[in-house]
Amino acid sequence: LFAGQSEFLKGVVSMDGVPPADRLEICFAGRSNVGKSSLINALTGRKALARASNTPGRTQEINYFTLGPLYLVDLPGYGYAEAPVAVVEKWQRLLKAYLAGRATLRRAFLLIDARHGIKKVDEEIMDLLDASAVTYQVVLTKADKPLQKDLDKVIEQVRGALSKHPAAYPELVLTSSEKGTGLATLRAIIAAMARG
Ligand code: GTP
Ligand code: MG
Repeated sequence: LFAGQSEFLKGVVSMDGVPPADRLEICFAGRSNVGKSSLINALTGRKALARASNTPGRTQEINYFTLGPLYLVDLPGYGYAEAPVAVVEKWQRLLKAYLAGRATLRRAFLLIDARHGIKKVDEEIMDLLDASAVTYQVVLTKADKPLQKDLDKVIEQVRGALSKHPAAYPELVLTSSEKGTGLATLRAIIAAMARG
């Protein structure tokens, strides 16, 4: 899907810099280090399209990529414990401006670590997404890491949380960028949105 049809476009630090809203877009949001950049690379089959790293807070800009007829947006990770308050506030302002100001945003994918489930910071983002009336879908990442019994518990916790959020899409997608799990499912979801 969209093989060879993905390119890095630009990184922006304010809404002034975003490309014209001339096509539909999807975005990837999630805590720092949850695996957003790795998932973008795995989905597009490009090893280093989005910069992945062990250092939390690596992606601090809103990064725009083309993905076939869509824009794919890699949002800066949130919830990084050591981030200075000023950075956190700047990030929240940018995220709010992005969510409120992007009429072409078709769906947000909210990435949640399959080992940790939904944390307080994720709940805050879900509240923000509910308020912005942006449809969002949870993608569990790093599914190769937890034991099955722990994974089952996390899935149950996430389903419970989703039922309390009106803008949340009820089905979650289980993925591993490392093992390739769930990539076909996610590509199919994205392809369906690209068709309109
Ligand atoms: P920020 O840009 O800081 O918000 O991080 P990010 O969400 O983009 O995370 P990134 O993709 O950089 O991945 C963080 C770390 O998790 C890296 O060391 C990756 O190798 C690792 N990782 C990502 N996806 C997976 C996965 O599916 N399985 C495993 N085992 N590790 C993963
Ligand atoms: Mg990143």
